[in-house]
Amino acid sequence: MVLQWYREKGRHHLPWRQTTDPYRIYLSEVMLQQTPVERVIPYYQRFLDRFPTLEALGEGEEEEVLALWSGLGYYSRARNLHRTARISGGELPRSYRELLQLPGIGRYTASAISSFAYGEARAVVDTNIKRVLKRYWATSDGREIWELAERLLDRENPREHNLALMDLGALICRPKDPLCSLCPLRSRCLGRGDPLAYSSPSGRSYSKVELHLGISLREGSIALVPSQGRLYRGMLLLPSVPGGERAVATIYHTYSRYRVRVLLYPLSSPPADALWVPLSRLGEVPVPSLVRKAVKAYLEGGD
Ligand code: ADE
Repeated sequence: MVLQWYREKGRHHLPWRQTTDPYRIYLSEVMLQQTPVERVIPYYQRFLDRFPTLEALGEGEEEEVLALWSGLGYYSRARNLHRTARISGGELPRSYRELLQLPGIGRYTASAISSFAYGEARAVVDTNIKRVLKRYWATSDGREIWELAERLLDRENPREHNLALMDLGALICRPKDPLCSLCPLRSRCLGRGDPLAYSSPSGRSYSKVELHLGISLREGSIALVPSQGRLYRGMLLLPSVPGGERAVATIYHTYSRYRVRVLLYPLSSPPADALWVPLSRLGEVPVPSLVRKAVKAYLEGGD
C-alpha cells in the first residue's frame, strides 16, 4: 500500500535517491540530520564535486571541509564526517555494528546507510517517520518507536519502505496540517481521527542570547578570529567587543537552540591573533552564517 503510493508520489528526484553509493548516502544523511532538504541540495552537490569519494574526503583538509559546510550549521557533523573519512581507509564498513563505531554515526545514520545503500532489513526512524508512526499507532509515547518501526518494516523492500514512510511524513502526514484523506494508510491508522493529539508540531524552546561583535575593515579585508570554544571549533568568527551604545547594525539569527541578537560595532584595533580575510574571499573560508549575515548587514547598513 505504502509502496505503491511511494512509487507514484515519492520524492524520487532527490539527488541522494539516485544512488546506492554508501558514501553519498552517508553524506546526505549527515547533512539532512538538522537541515531541510531544499537547503541541503546545493551544499550536497558542491561537496560531492569537490570530494567525490570518501577517500578524497580523507585526503582533504578540515579547513576546506568546514568551508564547504559554511552556512549549514552544526559543524561537528562536518568534523565527524571528516574524521570518519580519515580513519576508514576510503571505504565505509559493510556491517551495521562497525558503522556504529564511527564518529558521529548513531543508530539512525547506521540504519539509513544499511538500508539505503546495502538494502539490509533495518528500520529507520527520523522525525518524519516518528510522527507517522506515533499517529499510526495512536501513541504519544516515543520511547518504543524503534521497536514499532521494526515491527512495521517491510523486510522484502526495506529501502523503499523506509523512504516511503519518510515521504509520507513530509508530504501527507505533515506536522500541522496532515492530509489524511490522501493517505494510503488511512484505513488502518489508529490516529486518523485526531492526528495532532499524538504528534503535535514541535514546540522547540529557544534561549535568547545577545552578542556584541566588532567589525574591522582594512583595504577590503575583514578581521576574523579563530573560535576559542567548542562551539564553532575550527571556524573563523568576528571578535567580541564589550558592547556599548553605538551599535551600527543589528541582526537576528537562530542557531541550534538559540535566538541570537547580534549588535555590531566598528572596531579600530582588532585582537592580535586576527586574520585579515579579503571580503571577496569570505565564501572560501570556514565562517558560520551568522558572520556572513553580520558582515552583509554592516556593509549595507553601517556607516
Ligand atoms: N532520503 C533519504 N534520506 C532522507 C532524508 N533524511 N530526508 C529526506 N529524504 C531522504
